[in-house]
Amino acid sequence: MKTFVTVLGASIAFFLTIAMFGLTDWDRPPLAVQQSGFRGTAMDQIHTRAGAAETKAANVAPAPADPAEPGEELAGATYENVQVLKNVSVNEFNRLMVSMTEWVSPEQGCTYCHNTENMADDSLYQKKVARRMLQMTQHINESWKDNHVGGTGVTCFTCHRGQPVPAHVWFTDPGPNRPGGFTARNNGQNLAKASVGLASLPYDTLTEYLADKTIDNNAIRVNATTALPTTKGKPIQDAEKTYGLMIHMSEGLGVNCTFCHNTRAISNWSQSTPQRTTAWHGIRMVRDINGNYLEPLTSTFPTARLGVLGDVPKVNCTTCHNGQSKPLNGASMIEAYPELAKSTETASAADPVPADPAPADPAPTPAPQ
Ligand code: HEC
Ligand code: HEC
Ligand code: HEC
Ligand code: HEC
Repeated sequence: MKTFVTVLGASIAFFLTIAMFGLTDWDRPPLAVQQSGFRGTAMDQIHTRAGAAETKAANVAPAPADPAEPGEELAGATYENVQVLKNVSVNEFNRLMVSMTEWVSPEQGCTYCHNTENMADDSLYQKKVARRMLQMTQHINESWKDNHVGGTGVTCFTCHRGQPVPAHVWFTDPGPNRPGGFTARNNGQNLAKASVGLASLPYDTLTEYLADKTIDNNAIRVNATTALPTTKGKPIQDAEKTYGLMIHMSEGLGVNCTFCHNTRAISNWSQSTPQRTTAWHGIRMVRDINGNYLEPLTSTFPTARLGVLGDVPKVNCTTCHNGQSKPLNGASMIEAYPELAKSTETASAADPVPADPAPADPAPTPAPQ
C-alpha cells in the first residue's frame, strides 16, 4: 500500500510538472524591454507587457472641453473678485471653471470651492487654495517649460485626476513614537517605509531633499570626485539617504536606475542619459512647488488637512508622474488651455523666475567637512 501511494504521488507530481510547461498560464509573463543607453551597457527598462498596458490604461488624459466662443469682455472687468484670471475673456474663464470642476471636484461640483449664493465670496478655503493653484500651474508651465515640463505642460488634472486631494501627496514623517535607548539614533532606518520602497533606508528623505528650497545644490551628491581622497568625504549615512530618494524617483517614474544612470559610473554626467538632466531640474522644480506654493498655504488649510507635525501636504515625483516617465502617457495637457500656460496677471505680480538651475559644473565640489 505504501509503495502504491508513493508511486501514485510521484506520477501525479511528474504529470503536474509536464502540465506546468505545457500550459500558457505557467509561462514567464511576456516582457517588453526598452533600451535606454548604449549597446552593451545593460541600460534597459524591463516591464511585463500586461503591467505596461495596465499603467497606460490607468493614465489616460481627459479630452479637453470644446473651445470657448471668442469674446472681448474680460473676466476681471465683469466679475467682482477675480484676481488671477483678470485678463482672460469671460467665455474662456467659464470654460476653465467647468474644466477645473471636472479635474478637481467632479462629484462635489462648483460648490466645492464656491458659496453659490455669492460666487465672489472667498470664505471657503478651497477657493483660496485653488487661486494659488492657478498661479502655481501657470508658474510650472511658464518657468519650468524649458527644463522640465516641455510643451506637454500640466493642468490641474495632472495631479488631481478627478479628486480634490491628489492620490500622491506626502507629509514629514516624524518617525516612530518610542522612547530613546541604544537605537534612538538609528538614522531613521529599519522601518521599511513605503516612501523608500520598503527598504531599510532612512524613511524621511523626502523632507530633506524635496521640501527645502534653500538646500545646498550638491546635497544629494555623495560619490567621491577624485581617485584618492583629498577630503574626508561624506558619511555612508548620506549615501543611504541619496539611495532612498533615488528609489522614490524610480518608483514614481516606473523606471529603474538605468533610465538615468550608467551604473558603472553613477555620478558621471557624460555617461548619464538626457533624462537625468530633466530629473535634476525636476528635483529643483518640486522644491520650488513645495517651498513657494504649498508651504505658504499652511495657515489656509484646515488642521484636518495637515500632517501630524502641522505641515502642509506636499508634492513629489509621483504626484504628477503616477508611475510613468511621462505623465498621462505624454499627452499634451496645456495646448487647449493657453490661460494656464503663463501668468495672466500683470508682469509685476508674476512670481519670480528661479535662477537658472543648469548643472553648469557637472563635477560636484568636494563635500565640506
Ligand atoms: C477648484 C475650485 C473651483 C471650482 C470647482 C469652481 N471654481 Fe469658480 N472660482 C474659483 C477661483 C479660485 C476663482 C477666482 C479666480 C481668480 O481670482 O482669478 C473663481 C471665480 C469664479 C467666478 C467669478 C466670481 C466673482 O464675481 O468674482 C465665477 C462666476 C465662477 N468662479 C464660476 C464657477 C462655476 C459656475 C463653477 C462650476 C461649474 C466653478 N466656478 C467651479 C475656483 C473654483
Ligand atoms: C503639482 C500638482 C498640482 C497641480 C498641478 C494642482 N494641484 Fe491642487 N493640490 C495639490 C496638492 C499637493 C494639494 C494638497 C492636497 C490636500 O488638500 O490635502 C492640492 C490641493 C488643492 C485644493 C484643496 C483641496 C482640499 O480640499 O484640501 C484645491 C481646491 C486644488 N488643489 C485645486 C487645484 C486647481 C484648480 C488646480 C489647477 C488650476 C490645481 N489644484 C493644480 C497639487 C496640485
Ligand atoms: C529619473 C532619473 C534617475 C533615476 C531613475 C535614478 N537616479 Fe540617481 N540621480 C539622478 C540625479 C538627477 C542625480 C543628481 C541629483 C543632484 O545632484 O541633485 C542622481 C544622483 C545619484 C547618486 C549620487 C551621485 C553623486 O554624484 O554622488 C547616486 C548614488 C544615485 N543617483 C543612485 C541611483 C540609484 C541606485 C538608482 C536606482 C535605485 C537611481 N540613482 C535612479 C537621477 C536618477
Ligand atoms: C508638476 C508635475 C511634475 C512633477 C512634480 C515632476 N515631473 Fe517630471 N515631468 C513632468 C512632465 C509634464 C514631463 C513630460 C515633459 C515632456 O513631455 O517633455 C516630465 C518628464 C520627466 C522626465 C523625462 C522623461 C522622458 O521620458 O524623457 C524625467 C526624467 C522626469 N520628468 C523626472 C522627474 C523627477 C525625478 C521628479 C521628482 C523629483 C519629477 N519628474 C517631478 C511633470 C512633472
